Amino acid sequence: MNPNCKKRMGAIRVENMKIVAQKEIAPAIFELVLEGEMVEAMKAGQFLHLRVPDDAHLLRRPISISSIDKVKKQCHLIYRIEGSGTAIFSSLKTGDSIDVMGPQGNGFDLSDLDKQNRVLIVGGGIGVPPLLEVAKELHERGVKITTVLGFASKNAVILEDELAQYSQVLVTTDDGSYGIKGNVSVVIKELENEFDAIYSCGAPGMMKYINQSFYDHPRAYLSLESRMACGMGACYACVLKVPDSETVSQRVCEDGPVFKTGTVIL
Ligand code: FAD
Ligand code: FES
Repeated sequence: MNPNCKKRMGAIRVENMKIVAQKEIAPAIFELVLEGEMVEAMKAGQFLHLRVPDDAHLLRRPISISSIDKVKKQCHLIYRIEGSGTAIFSSLKTGDSIDVMGPQGNGFDLSDLDKQNRVLIVGGGIGVPPLLEVAKELHERGVKITTVLGFASKNAVILEDELAQYSQVLVTTDDGSYGIKGNVSVVIKELENEFDAIYSCGAPGMMKYINQSFYDHPRAYLSLESRMACGMGACYACVLKVPDSETVSQRVCEDGPVFKTGTVIL
């Protein structure tokens, strides 16, 4: 095993991963390619908890895994500069390394789907990246996929071409500067097919809409965000309440970030 890769607290793993490439793919949105042993354990929908290489930043930053290449031992992350931590990530160069904890969280359940199945993928803004690996893996199994993506405007559109390799893609923008004007609900309401599974990740409003629209669907999944501290289930900074219970809660970092619709209160 790579000496940089050490196991901590059972399954939690920390590794100095090598930066293979980094480029800006849209204004303030970066694609980071990391290489390391940890890739072996990664699943679609999990996230990495990245240490900001600056002592003033004590908390790690959670970023979803966008795509996984186990042969090359590489994974791709796509992140938007939000504050000082992600701004520091954007200054990292090829050949640098970054301290990564992960892979964290449960990931998407992609089991038991094949060419007889039809799946809907719904992504919004910087929530689109983790859905790329979902589409890739389901496409490899012959699943028929419809993808609906929502963005604020044309210059925020990401991963449309990549997802189009695996699925039919429909894009909406809030301001109508690209694709269909409006949000994803405009398109989803018009879809005529029944879907065997639904995979989604996006802003809170979009997640509420998917949760309500597919509340009782047996296989509709939401990938959720929450402010995190430890990122490994210990501090309860990231909890969500569950329906019909005052006492039970779910940790986004450990019990999620992927939840079935109808199982948490948004
Ligand atoms: P600051 O605002 O300076 O951060 C201050 C603190 O708030 C930090 O601890 C930071 O981690 C936390 N914070 C700020 N915004 C968020 C947020 N939206 N969610 C959680 N914590 C936040 N962003 C991407 O661009 N691409 C992704 O693939 C992605 N995947 C994520 C997956 C998960 C499971 C979660 C929880 C968040 C994800 N985010 C993603 C959001 C990303 O973690 C935040 O944008 C980032 O932490 C902001 O850090 P900052 O230092 O730049 O911003
Ligand atoms: Fe500590 Fe989730 S961030 S339990």
